[in-house]
Amino acid sequence: MRMYDIIEKKRNGDSLTNEEIKFFVGGFTEGSIPDYQAAALMMAIYFNGMNERETVCLTDTMAHSGDTVDLSRFGTFSVDKHSTGGVGDKTSLIVAPVVASLGGKVTKMSGRGLGHTGGTVDKLESIPGYKTTLTNDEFLDQVEKVGIAVIGQSGNLTPADKKMYALRDVTATVESIPLITSSIMSKKIAAGSHSIVLDVKVGSGAFMKDLRHAKLLAEEMVKIGISCGRNMAAVITDMDTPLGNNIGNSLEVEEAVRVLRGEVKNDLYEVSVTLASLMVTLCLGTTLRGAEEKVRAVIEDGRAYEKMKEWISAQGGDVRCIEDLSLLPRSEYSCEVRSTFDGYITGFDTEKVGIVSVILGAGRESKEDSIDHGAGIILRKKTGDRVKPGDVLATLYTNRKEKIPEAEMLFNSCIKSSWAEPEKKPLIYKVIK
Ligand code: URA
Repeated sequence: MRMYDIIEKKRNGDSLTNEEIKFFVGGFTEGSIPDYQAAALMMAIYFNGMNERETVCLTDTMAHSGDTVDLSRFGTFSVDKHSTGGVGDKTSLIVAPVVASLGGKVTKMSGRGLGHTGGTVDKLESIPGYKTTLTNDEFLDQVEKVGIAVIGQSGNLTPADKKMYALRDVTATVESIPLITSSIMSKKIAAGSHSIVLDVKVGSGAFMKDLRHAKLLAEEMVKIGISCGRNMAAVITDMDTPLGNNIGNSLEVEEAVRVLRGEVKNDLYEVSVTLASLMVTLCLGTTLRGAEEKVRAVIEDGRAYEKMKEWISAQGGDVRCIEDLSLLPRSEYSCEVRSTFDGYITGFDTEKVGIVSVILGAGRESKEDSIDHGAGIILRKKTGDRVKPGDVLATLYTNRKEKIPEAEMLFNSCIKSSWAEPEKKPLIYKVIK
């Protein structure tokens, strides 16, 4: 078999055989197929797509290119959740204890934040002592006893995806539905959960900027997951406005805890309820309506909050920081951004809001950067709010005092306003089961 012929076949719009796909993934992962040929094939896939059989084969081959996690001891109870990424998206911190308090076994291998979106592992590391690395036995024991373990991705999970994603990133081939599907789903399948709920974000802070493409991606990922033997659901949710009010690692932990204590009932609460209900439906076989009632109840009666403390403590985190949120890290300097306009907030350039949080120190521009766990933004006003000149729009937190003027100016340019009250947009566009 020759890589040249595989590239030519896909360039001409033909479908590849399973043997050809396996030849490519195996050869590229072990290094016998060079980057330039892999990049040419990815560009051909970008233009000519892949059919369902090809995408299933690509996903499954990538999933088995390295280590896989065996969660078979949890039967159908293991459940995972994945978000395509957004600003202020801390739903994992909420849904994991909610679902575990109802009997689900929540297992997650999460990434770090890069660019304008945050990562669950960074958020959890803002809790002093929290360990994001566990041995396989520790991981499984904790899931058995507590019902949750959330760690960073193991070194040898889906090496094929690591190489392919790095190459796509520099060859303008990221935005391809079969390539995104195989990249995300291969990691989820290697991570072993029987049920997977996907949160596909759409809007100015998301990867998918329009609803049509978000739906295509969500439907494709659900189809491919089912073909690979998993129990799947997806939700398409809004990312035209940051989710919740807090952006930045410890600030997001704080907001998640407040939702779990029943103190906050905002957009973050609603999206979390939807995601958790779907997870419960898939892993415990409850109806969606029944699951939603249970989810709201465990938040109301404090069971989910107690489960969060049990999880954080089991993973080495200082639970006093959850009980007393003022003990979480907070950067030294703060600045209130005030309105210069009179009218309604009609939206945000959400990606730019994420960039403001990176400038403040809450995120990374490159993989090697360190982050300031106490930096970030608290939004005091959101889309639909009436604002008068001088009102506080947001509070910025940072240890980089010299960055405040730049961050403030950029934050102001993120806000869209008008005299007219904006129409209310949906928070949840579609549930796919
Ligand atoms: N996230 C991934 O993990 N892979 C993609 O291809 C896109 C987003």
